[in-house]
Amino acid sequence: MEYLFGDTDIAARRLKVLAEVYAEPTRAFLLDAVADEPRLAVDVGCGPGYTTHLLSDVLQCEHTAGLDNSEHFVSLAKKTETEKVSFYLHDVTSLPFPAGPADLIYCRMLLTHLNELRSQITDWATQLQPGGLLLIEEVEWIHMEKDVFKDYIKIVDAMLEHQSNQLYVGPPLDGFTDIGGLKKRASRVRRKLVKNSQAATMFFLNMQFWKESPFIRANHSPETIDRLEQGLYALSDESNREMEIEWGMRQLVYQRA
Ligand SMILES: C[S@@+](CC[C@H](N)C(=O)[O-])C[C@H]1O[C@@H](n2cnc3c(N)ncnc32)[C@H](O)[C@@H]1O
Repeated sequence: MEYLFGDTDIAARRLKVLAEVYAEPTRAFLLDAVADEPRLAVDVGCGPGYTTHLLSDVLQCEHTAGLDNSEHFVSLAKKTETEKVSFYLHDVTSLPFPAGPADLIYCRMLLTHLNELRSQITDWATQLQPGGLLLIEEVEWIHMEKDVFKDYIKIVDAMLEHQSNQLYVGPPLDGFTDIGGLKKRASRVRRKLVKNSQAATMFFLNMQFWKESPFIRANHSPETIDRLEQGLYALSDESNREMEIEWGMRQLVYQRA
């Protein structure tokens, strides 16, 4: 399954902005969900490693391993390795994971790009120690006022659907209660208001990767895509402090029996 958002330097810049935007709801989620310091935490789909370091810092894990199947992202992440944080080039749809059985597996904004969610989660459960936790954060909804944001989201939604993925993957995930030896321990939606400038920056950077893809060429005129790009660029100005876009992040905690 192709990862639609790419692993270029621009894609890595987008993930840096995303890391800044979502650090606060993720930190709150981790502190609510985890009582004990994990010996080994594994961050699946870690990108350049921002979430991996956040996990390590917030939970004071003895060791944290980030896994990603992008050579470029893992090479960037490896530059930030410490005694307590390491990275592996690994496709997380393949088992076993390289770092060994984990006390905690963490996944943010990855299941939206994968298929067969139930069997994926069942597989990950096998990589947990008994009593270990699987923490998932994915998008439940996005509320927005501006047409330019609505246009962008409509395109991303259609691109994901075209390869049988779901942008709003929170609701189906919340439908899973006990799954693959895991028990659901908590589920909530945490809201995050985002500055227009930050949302526009993430969206603008993201479309640099896919704006000339076959799917876009087949479904949208170059004029439409140019207009979208210019609209996002104009909103990305940092002096723009308005917040007219809000994410609902589904935060799920499962525990291995
Ligand atoms: C949207 S990014 C999220 C990165 C990070 N979890 C965060 O929240 O900042 C999705 C990441 O998953 C990675 N990815 C996609 N499919 C993967 C797979 N099958 N195995 C490992 N990593 C994968 C991509 O390379 C990308 O780094």
